[in-house]
Amino acid sequence: MARSIRPLVAGNWKMNGLKSELAIAGAVATGCDAALRQAVDLAICPPATLLAALSDSLAGTGIATGGQDCSREASGAFTGEIAAAMLADAGARYVIVGHSERRTLHGEDDATVRAKAEAAVAAQLVPIICVGETRAEREAGRAVAVVCGQLAGSVPAASGAASLVVAYEPVWAIGTGLTPTAGDVAEMHVAIRAELGRLLGQEAASGVRLLYGGSVKPGNAAELMSVRDVDGALVGGASLVAADFLAIARACA
Ligand code: PGA
Repeated sequence: MARSIRPLVAGNWKMNGLKSELAIAGAVATGCDAALRQAVDLAICPPATLLAALSDSLAGTGIATGGQDCSREASGAFTGEIAAAMLADAGARYVIVGHSERRTLHGEDDATVRAKAEAAVAAQLVPIICVGETRAEREAGRAVAVVCGQLAGSVPAASGAASLVVAYEPVWAIGTGLTPTAGDVAEMHVAIRAELGRLLGQEAASGVRLLYGGSVKPGNAAELMSVRDVDGALVGGASLVAADFLAIARACA
């Protein structure tokens, strides 16, 4: 498939992974052949405790690493928080911000997500800004409006195409095995690109990578990744199995 935007497949390990699980990333690196490397950017976002070791072990493989969250603050008396610069110092290139689990379980609103994205950019990281509607919002016919509202509130003004990634993750599809239809994903990604055009200007918007996330598996990746305006995937559960993560990446190539 001819793509105008280089795809990104990012694995979100969430709160999974001890040192022994670094072997999963090793298996991804070993299985990532030259053709795949040439066609797709890969990233793994492990728990913060593994970030430095993972970044070191993947050095030279072309596989990037990322954090799963960052503080909106640069430094200071914020016990338990991790600054974007610390993630960068540990070797990260990306950081996920505004994941629905953060929005829901930690009460993060759009303004918080935007502040975190700005902190990431200030630390030379690329934020992967997550947006997505709940099941009730989709059933009420409000999915596009909700997601566009999240974008308007969460995306830093004056972002360039290279300085952010957007991940559309319907809340009801995360970890459930459910996925939207290809048609629904297409409609949403076209709407996201249009909203980014309004926020950032057409030129920047046309180059932003738009990932789909939520129950992406080897069995559905080819269909989801072939949808118009889908430039890769944010992968949770399946990123913990090297063969599955690689199969999803190959579906983007
Ligand atoms: P899932 O998670 O692939 O396990 O549904 C996706 C995510 O939360 O990023």
